[in-house]
Amino acid sequence: MEKARFSRVGFILAAAGSAVGLGNIWKFPYMAGQNGGGAFVLIYLLTVVLIGLSIFIAEVYMGRTTREDGVTAFETLAARNGHIWKYAGFMVFTGVLILSFYTIVIGWIFKYIILSFSTLPISVGAAGKLFGAMVSGDWEGQFAFFNIAFFLTMWIVARGVKRGIERVNLILMPLLILILIFLFFYSMTYTGFEKSLTFLFYPEWDKLTQSSLLQAVGHAFFTLSLGMGTIMTYATSLPKGENIVKSSFYVAFIDTLIALVAGIIIFTFVFHFGEKPSQGPGLVFISLPALFHHMGVMGNVISLLFFVALAFAGITSAVSIVEPTALFFINRFKMARSKALIIIAVIVYILGTMAVLSNTKAYGAHFTYFGKGAFDLMDFVSAAILLPLGGMIIAIFVGFVIERDKVHATMSKYMSDRLFNLWYFSIRYIAPAAVMIVMINKLFF
Ligand code: PFF
Repeated sequence: MEKARFSRVGFILAAAGSAVGLGNIWKFPYMAGQNGGGAFVLIYLLTVVLIGLSIFIAEVYMGRTTREDGVTAFETLAARNGHIWKYAGFMVFTGVLILSFYTIVIGWIFKYIILSFSTLPISVGAAGKLFGAMVSGDWEGQFAFFNIAFFLTMWIVARGVKRGIERVNLILMPLLILILIFLFFYSMTYTGFEKSLTFLFYPEWDKLTQSSLLQAVGHAFFTLSLGMGTIMTYATSLPKGENIVKSSFYVAFIDTLIALVAGIIIFTFVFHFGEKPSQGPGLVFISLPALFHHMGVMGNVISLLFFVALAFAGITSAVSIVEPTALFFINRFKMARSKALIIIAVIVYILGTMAVLSNTKAYGAHFTYFGKGAFDLMDFVSAAILLPLGGMIIAIFVGFVIERDKVHATMSKYMSDRLFNLWYFSIRYIAPAAVMIVMINKLFF
């Protein structure tokens, strides 16, 4: 078992670095845009507070009390049948799947950082063509950028918890926050700002569909990095005496705030230039560059800052996606960190290459399974199935399998009895039920 411990700020920034990622700046705004804005945002906020935060605390509890990798944590904490519960711990391998497509998107962002130095596309149509050509035509370019993102991630994790993960987060997270603060104040000077606020915070309930509700629940897991032992793994390196409830609260707060701020910035530009908020996944890669074009040279600067912020958010999350599997190999097989990473790298490299090729016109058909390209399939299987399933298992495990007295003995140091009962009720009933509904919906409708 590794002895490295985060500093107090180090843990909060690393966990926030994991949570704040492409999910906040890319996914959340386009989902809010597609689902009508305010009502969706409100449901998402409620979900984070009522479900996400509870499972987050449960993961921190498991990691902090065992100080073991995800698989061993389940074995150790189970009151009976520990050996069976180790299978639940294999959720750490979801990371391998997520990393395979996540680093490809970070690669796209790197390409857009470079694009920010040249003439930006003059219209949304032109921007759409550019994005389409990159994803479906230029596999060599995409592959090259995927390699950069992937090896950068692996290099950071190879340096270990203190010198790699903590240090990167200590540098990139404050920079990311500074850039977003700047962009936020800059966007305030645009007339679209007010419209953006109204869109995001004025709920129009009739725009809320059943599917928006379910999407909000699913996204709460992804955005808080729940359901694959990431938060659990980071919590194994918590400093002694840390108030785990308070830290969980801070992380969820930072994550939510950054999603909202990113949304406000993006929709300010969208409304200012009369674009539609419902563009979908292309919102950041297609709508924004075209809007930035209208701002002249300042547009290039804003574009650069925006994509750099997005890259920082992505990298700090990517390292957290590798760490649970890495710690499992290191802990279980007494492996050197470098050896564990080489095994992970080989698998991700193969899957990542398949994912890149699956988006191309030339090779897509060879990498299509069950009607979905490898890229979409990895995204779907991990975000729609594995993460919610993992979150539900964690909630049920802490709620029903570990003895209540044991959980209470630890948690009562950080929570009043009233809060404990509320949290306990949430992980036993509310969270599992909500996840069940989301999964059934995603799988069958
Ligand atoms: N929370 C990250 C985001 O919002 O982009 C994604 C993520 C990171 C998911 C780590 C799962 C995970 F374990």
